[in-house]
Parts: sequence; C-alpha cells; structure tokens
Amino acid sequence: MKILVIPGDGIGQEVTIYGKKVLSKIAQKFGHPISFEEGIMGHVAIEATGNPLPDETLEKAKKSDAILFGAIGHAKYDNDPSAKVRPEQGLLKIRKELGLYANLRPIKLFDELLEASSIKPEVLRGADILFFRELTGDVYFGKKERTDGGNTASDLMVYSKYEVERIAEKAFLAARNRRKKLCSVDKANVLESSRLWRETVQEMAKKFPDIEVEHMFVDNAAMQLIKDPKKFDVIVTGNLFGDILTDEASQIAGSMGMLASASIGDKVGFYEPIHGSAHDIAGKGIANPLASILSVALMLDISFNLKNEAAVVINAVDKVLKEGYRTRDIASEATLINKILTTSEMGEAVLSKI
Ligand code: IPM
Ligand code: MG
Repeated sequence: MKILVIPGDGIGQEVTIYGKKVLSKIAQKFGHPISFEEGIMGHVAIEATGNPLPDETLEKAKKSDAILFGAIGHAKYDNDPSAKVRPEQGLLKIRKELGLYANLRPIKLFDELLEASSIKPEVLRGADILFFRELTGDVYFGKKERTDGGNTASDLMVYSKYEVERIAEKAFLAARNRRKKLCSVDKANVLESSRLWRETVQEMAKKFPDIEVEHMFVDNAAMQLIKDPKKFDVIVTGNLFGDILTDEASQIAGSMGMLASASIGDKVGFYEPIHGSAHDIAGKGIANPLASILSVALMLDISFNLKNEAAVVINAVDKVLKEGYRTRDIASEATLINKILTTSEMGEAVLSKI
C-alpha cells in the first residue's frame, strides 16, 4: 500500500496524524507492506510555494494507491472574497485531476452518540444513509464570469449525461447491496441541468428493476432528512446539493467530527473527513480525530478490499465510545468531565483498541 498523506490546513494537521497512525498499526498487525509519503496542499502550500496544489504533490498523488487528506481552508480567505489564489482551489484541482467523480459520504450514528446530536434520539435511532455526491461537475467547475464592470457574476451549473450516468450507476449498485432504495435529489422543477439529471436517472432505473427509485427536490430533501432520516437508504445528487445536504446530514451522525468520506473514480482513492479546517479550534488539541480514523476504515475497505481490517478500525472506535470517552464536539451533558479527551488522547485510545 503506497499512501500519500496530505494533512492540509487547520485541524487537518492535528487529526491526520491519528488517521496515519491507525493505518500504520493495522498494516503492521495484519502484515500488509505499507509506505507513506507526505504532500502539501491548501493554505500551507500557498504559504510555502504560492500554489495551493504544487505539481510535486499532484505527481505524488498520481503515483500513490490511496490518499489520506485532512482539511483545507483559512479564515483569511473567507473574509477576503477578492483573493485570486485560494486554498480550496487545491482540493478542487486534485479532485478533477484524479477523476474523483464519486464522493461517498456514509451517515451512520454510533448508538452511543444518540445524545450528541441536536436532533431527538427517537428520530435518529436506526438512521443509515449513504450519500453519493457527484464531485467533478456542476457549478463548481462550470464557467465563472464577471461582467458589467464586475457588477454581475455568474457560475454555470452544467451537467453532461455521462457524468450523471457514471455516478448514478455507482449509487444503483450500492443500493443493490443495501436496502435497495435510491433517492435522487435535484431541482428539476426549476433547473434544466436537473431535468437532464432526472431524465437520465429515470432511464437508468429501467436497468435496475430491483431498486425502488424516488426523485426528490432538494428543498424537500433538506426537510425530510431532519424530519425522518430513517426513510433514506442511498441518496445520489449533484455537487452543490450534495455539499450542502451532507453537512446537514452530519447532524444525523451526531457531529461533523464523526463523518468520513471516500472520493473515487478513475483510479486512486482519496479519503477525507467531511469537516473543514476549523481554524477557530485549530492548535488547541481539542479536534475530533475520529472522522480521519473512520476515513482510514473507508480506505481499507474501498481501495484495498480489506473488509476485516476496516471492521477492526470501526470496532475500535465503537469500543472507545462505549467506554464513555468523547472529544468535546460529541460530549453531552451526561459526559463525565474526566472522559472528555483531547485529540491525542482520543487517537491513542483508539490505537490501544486495535
Ligand atoms: C467539502 C468542502 C469543499 C467542497 C470545500 C472546502 C471546497 O466543503 O468537501 O464538502 O465544497 O466540496
Ligand atoms: Mg462541504
């Protein structure tokens, strides 16, 4: 296993250390040869080279079997919309260059965290959703323009049929191995690109008669997710809607700090927490490393087909949670103060269970 580690910005630096340690320990325990390289991307890369994705990082990425990424972004740019070079460009470019068109975001609540979410436990219990977010198209990559002396701006929302087909195909196949339900989310009552999306998914549904397909407008989906998350199995949607809905859905898993994601497509797999760089808590040692650790579980499963090893990682996280240990973001009023762990304590606790 040739792994490229890109810690990135903010808490990415703190949490990825533990993703990497967990991966090392698994490799060692199960006797899988592993080698690590490190790369820079995002704000740290801009500071060092002026480029959010240096060629050197991209070259290393292309040569690796899988990539473990941390987070990207810096408050400095969030407050400066005029900045031409931005950390996020690095992430978007690597997704495009590596052909990572399918972003899988599993939303599953560990029972122990029922109280950590702001949603009622009875609404959450049993929810288990797998998002397929399209990742290399949509307004993210459509033409961007300023006209009218800079006073009018546009981002083109564009999808081609083959882009919808390839992500939908992955979602249909995943549904087949789960509860056989697929919900496709769009805004076909308003957007032409969504009408193409819906048309394409409808056509494909004929090839998957065993899958129950539902089409939902994104505004309704946002509401249904919170109202009754249990009714969803697999959800497939475009880049922008998927970005927004998965942040919302993170509350179904208790906290953003718990959610891992896998981006796949042409060849290399790219694994990252869905949370951002969280500069407000960076450097304080309180970030939750579990999303990075669970991203490693996804990597073992998807890139290397090591199902048992992936399960060992998930069980280790489960055991630590069962013993009552929490980072701050997933602590509830009932959490004992001596069970609230720092980033490194939580990372070590999981390692000790492997
Ligand atoms: C995500 C993030 C990114 C996105 C940002 C950092 C560009 O929010 O991975 O969800 O919008 O895709
Ligand atoms: Mg996002």
